[in-house]
Amino acid sequence: TGMVTIDPGYKNTGSCESAITFLDGEKGILRYRGYSIEELAEKADFLEVAYLLIFGELPNKAQLEKFYDDITEESQVDEEMKKILDGFPKSAHPMGVLSSLTSALVAFNPSTVDVSSDEAMYNSIVRILGKFPVLVAWTMRKKMGLPLDYGDDNLGYVENIHKMMFKKPTKDYVKNPIVIDALDKLLILHADHEQNCSTSTVRITGSSHAGLFVSLAAGVSALWGPLHGGANQAVLEMLEAIKEDGGDTKKYMAKAKDKNDPFRLMGFGHRVYKNFDPRAKIIKKAADQVLGDLGVEDPILDIAKGLEKEALEDQYFVERKLYPNVDFYSGIIYRAMGIPVDMFTVMFALGRLPGWIAQWREMRLRKEPIGRPRQIYIGENHRPFVPLDKR
Ligand code: CMC
Repeated sequence: TGMVTIDPGYKNTGSCESAITFLDGEKGILRYRGYSIEELAEKADFLEVAYLLIFGELPNKAQLEKFYDDITEESQVDEEMKKILDGFPKSAHPMGVLSSLTSALVAFNPSTVDVSSDEAMYNSIVRILGKFPVLVAWTMRKKMGLPLDYGDDNLGYVENIHKMMFKKPTKDYVKNPIVIDALDKLLILHADHEQNCSTSTVRITGSSHAGLFVSLAAGVSALWGPLHGGANQAVLEMLEAIKEDGGDTKKYMAKAKDKNDPFRLMGFGHRVYKNFDPRAKIIKKAADQVLGDLGVEDPILDIAKGLEKEALEDQYFVERKLYPNVDFYSGIIYRAMGIPVDMFTVMFALGRLPGWIAQWREMRLRKEPIGRPRQIYIGENHRPFVPLDKR
């Protein structure tokens, strides 16, 4: 065992070389393929960012159009998939449904497991970019009791996703540019974040040469937890609870600091950012803007701001370098858009999809070996077997 050093949570372990996302946690810098997150959120759209992450360069007009056409060519899901969705109770958590449907998709697209040529790999990628949003929309529509349908290939990628989610059978869909812009921005901000829990899961699953779709399904499952993507749902539930409890933020600050209380201030702290999360800055501004533009007055936004102010001045949080993270404000925007709380993490998954794909592709192209960490054994030494009647 002399060779093995352990690093619980891989806090100081590099698992790969990567040319996709640069992150400086001390300085609060995040860049995709060299472009700053601030600039991308402001100037690019989600599909361009997806192309950038996956293929390494911003697409020119022709490349973007081809990418979009190839994706829309694949934007149907086999009708039999509806039977699988039907098997779930309405109360099922959307993340469990999404992970299952993503796995099930392999059965209807068996060729996607073969990624031995560039062309085969590209085909698997555009297929999932076409079909995943349909699964997301169906997951939400089932919950809401709405009929399952497909999108409209004449719309932009994000606008189409929004329409697929919200279109009512008896009403024409009317685009709200404020909502579409905000959604686009949120998806960009979530699109990649180097070797986080779900991305590492996608890479390690794919490292056994399991196909892209099941590797992504594993990523969805990893994202579900409240310490990771599930934080956006947990934040809103926490803010609701504080509101119900009379809005006493100080009481919850005390709970978060109490080491005998498992309560954590959800949406605060980050494994890598020890200064601030640059995504949180952009989102906080967007939350103000979107709620203002939509004319939504949400008391929860005030509670969030109050909590943030107190935490930033509190010795416990300052000492531990705990700042609001990307998910502290995202739920407030999702809520203003009419997205149910337990769908928030699904929206994160939708945003993270291109990052997962890019990281999986990089892992395969670099021919990385199977991920297989070691351990230090701390169990019993060798001992003789005891027959059942002697135990
Ligand atoms: N509230 C109260 N105390 C906290 C919090 C929090 N949200 N986060 C960390 N701490 C304390 C923790 O108790 C520990 O204190 P001590 O040194 O006295 O034992 C110290 O800060 C360091 O925390 P840690 O758990 O060792 O740090 P980590 O890197 O293992 O965990 C984290 C990072 C994000 C899981 C954690 O900060 C957390 O649980 N935050 C709340 C959940 C959350 O918002 N997650 C979303 C992360 S951003 C979206 C994403 O990428 O998924």
